[in-house]
Amino acid sequence: MTTGTMRAAVIHRYGGPEEFRTETVPEPAAGPGRVLIDVTLAGLNYADLHCRTGEYARYPLPAVLGADVVGRRRGDGRRVAALLRSGGGYAQVACAETRFTVELPDGVSDAQALALLEQGTTAYGALALSGRLRPGECVAVTAAAGGVGHLAVQLARELGAGRVLGLASTPAKREFVRSLGADDALDPADPRLAERLARAGGVDLFVDSVGGPSLRTGLAALAPFGRLLSVGARGGPEEAFSVDELAERSAGLLAFWLQQVLDDRVLFTGLVGHLLRLAGECRLVARIDRTVPLSGVADAHRALAARETMGKVLVDVRRED
Ligand SMILES: NC(=O)c1ccc[n+]([C@@H]2O[C@H](COP(=O)([O-])OP(=O)(O)OC[C@H]3O[C@@H](n4cnc5c(N)ncnc54)[C@H](OP(=O)(O)O)[C@@H]3O)[C@@H](O)[C@H]2O)c1
Repeated sequence: MTTGTMRAAVIHRYGGPEEFRTETVPEPAAGPGRVLIDVTLAGLNYADLHCRTGEYARYPLPAVLGADVVGRRRGDGRRVAALLRSGGGYAQVACAETRFTVELPDGVSDAQALALLEQGTTAYGALALSGRLRPGECVAVTAAAGGVGHLAVQLARELGAGRVLGLASTPAKREFVRSLGADDALDPADPRLAERLARAGGVDLFVDSVGGPSLRTGLAALAPFGRLLSVGARGGPEEAFSVDELAERSAGLLAFWLQQVLDDRVLFTGLVGHLLRLAGECRLVARIDRTVPLSGVADAHRALAARETMGKVLVDVRRED
């Protein structure tokens, strides 16, 4: 069977953002358990930066990166969003596994659904499943203006957290974090950060997506019986903790990986359904930082790496300006 062609942002070797080329390539072919999606929007995720440099998943080259899309399913024309566990998002047609494809309700826009699919499930899974957040607890979230972080701040409130603290590197980001309902927003570069976080009894759940020294700050800010939860890292050396250090606060060291949610179909669809309901009721609102054309993927990668973004970055794959 012959397939058509499509436009895509392609890399031919691992490296910097300059490696992206907008090209005409064959459409993917759907095999068993897969569907084709005519993509309207593709999303950026921080892991895409590591995929581009080859530090994370090394796809066969030439490769199309991009881990989440929204669009119309071929065959029935239904509006769907999908996670792509082996890339292929920055393109006009994506091939998605059926089990990671969800139909969208009318009341939630393409952009909102896309912003929730990977980052919302991560934020919710981290807080509720790994973090086991209890009502009244104090939560701190790193990169709180980011794609995962700005949803985690809102979801912490939704889950009944007592105090919600967000870390963000600029005054504009901190203002944004407060506007999401955080009780306070703090500068991660503040040398007295752990002390400030530890005020009023300390942090019960520290959700960290930065790694390295940020984890140590989190540990120092924990309340007795608090939990330090890693959801990601930005490169750099890993932090090691001794059991004695944890025992000083009877602290828990936890990690979250979305894969465990994806491996459980009931859990995944239930969680996405819950997030879409919250979005439909405007109790969870994703901020769209910018929407770039397909030819703007390189600039979008630069902006994400340069910490210039707040919320979700999208690619309109039908535009090339
Ligand atoms: N565990 C999982 O299954 C899972 C799933 C999805 C995502 N994640 C992780 O969750 C984290 C957030 O992902 P995201 O897609 O929402 O990205 P993001 O948080 O929107 O990434 C951009 C922000 O990260 C912060 N940042 C901190 N250190 C940085 C550094 N060294 N370089 C650049 N930015 C830095 C910056 O905020 P400030 O300037 O305010 O510091 C920046 O604006 C990532 O670590 C990602 O790998 C994990």
